[in-house]
Amino acid sequence: MKPVYFAPLEGIGNHIYRGVFARHYSGVDRFYTPFIDINSDGGMKNRSKNDILPENNEGICLIPQVLTKNADALGEASRYIAGLGYTEINLNMGCPSATVTKKGKGSGMLADTDSLDRFLEKAFTVSCTKLSVKMRIGISNETEWEGLMEVLNRYPLSELIVHPRLMTQVYEGSIHEDIFRKIYEVSKAPVCLNPGIRSADDFLRFERSYPGLTGLMIGRGLVANPALAEEIRSVQGILPSGTVTSSDCVGVREQSRLFQGISSSGTVTSSDCVGVREQSRDFRNQLTGNVPPVRKRFRAFHDDLLEAYRGVLFGETPVLHKMKELWDFWELEIPLEPKLKKALSKASSVSEYQTVIRQILS
Ligand SMILES: Cc1cc2nc3c(=O)[nH]c(=O)nc-3n(C[C@H](O)[C@H](O)[C@H](O)COP(=O)(O)O)c2cc1C
Repeated sequence: MKPVYFAPLEGIGNHIYRGVFARHYSGVDRFYTPFIDINSDGGMKNRSKNDILPENNEGICLIPQVLTKNADALGEASRYIAGLGYTEINLNMGCPSATVTKKGKGSGMLADTDSLDRFLEKAFTVSCTKLSVKMRIGISNETEWEGLMEVLNRYPLSELIVHPRLMTQVYEGSIHEDIFRKIYEVSKAPVCLNPGIRSADDFLRFERSYPGLTGLMIGRGLVANPALAEEIRSVQGILPSGTVTSSDCVGVREQSRLFQGISSSGTVTSSDCVGVREQSRDFRNQLTGNVPPVRKRFRAFHDDLLEAYRGVLFGETPVLHKMKELWDFWELEIPLEPKLKKALSKASSVSEYQTVIRQILS
């Protein structure tokens, strides 16, 4: 059972969100902060400092992620971060936003392997913590990964998290699983995959395909369905692998193989995953409205999050902005009638917003 990592999500996965999420849902083994943009002297904004304060992250496992191409600045920042008790920093080598990449940061760091090499050499000398990397497979070309892996393999990364898309793909288009497999095979660092998981089915398929993974990272799928990590655990927990040994239990064993997505020949095929798919669909139906307790639970999460943002943001406009941004994800799981969608987007006060929410979620 691979650990579930909650992906870093700028604008979404801050400590307010993490705290409310962890009060209402479980199953996530590790959270990553949205990127912390490090100044040239190693300093960071108060907002980022606040985000990683241990008292704002009680009871969760958190890895701070930094965005910098300056190894000295990283060294300074690592002193501060280690002082708070963290033992690992994740380096962002994946952000595809032009404002970041044009400064040679984020996935811009993948453009020049010599600079990357110099950065890592210094970074590993000055950092007070372990360093892991979250990367894409290259900028625009499907052969770039080889040169990148040659450089990355020279350093003792604590983990290599791969989002198998090119920078130019941003967050859309097919993932390059073929290239991921090659990276998985050659990487000297332990590898985590961040492939765009949307269901327990997806999780099990990747887990089975790459048994050596340290974990699987999920971003948008976990925002859209905050119970996804629990669904993954439940599907695995109902018939956990390796627990059925008696020869009397052939039926159960067969079922267990189905839940695990293993065909009788031992290979994973999509038609073998019917059991998992059915389970997953059941959970989904619950979220989209057939079973009131699940909807109630989501409503409680939603309302807590709204209150938490009202408590820290100044004025109603930023609160509405945060909540409406989340609906871009939630509506993937809770389809909105056009009339309600329009009302949601037009809501200009928290009370108007709450009126629409009552119609959507009750
Ligand atoms: C709104 C948004 C913000 C993101 N912020 C970050 C970030 O701060 N750091 C980072 O490494 N990746 C960031 N990502 C990328 C995600 O961590 C993840 O790699 C990507 O969404 C693919 O995984 P998913 O399909 O499971 O969401 C962001 C993605 C989105 C959509």
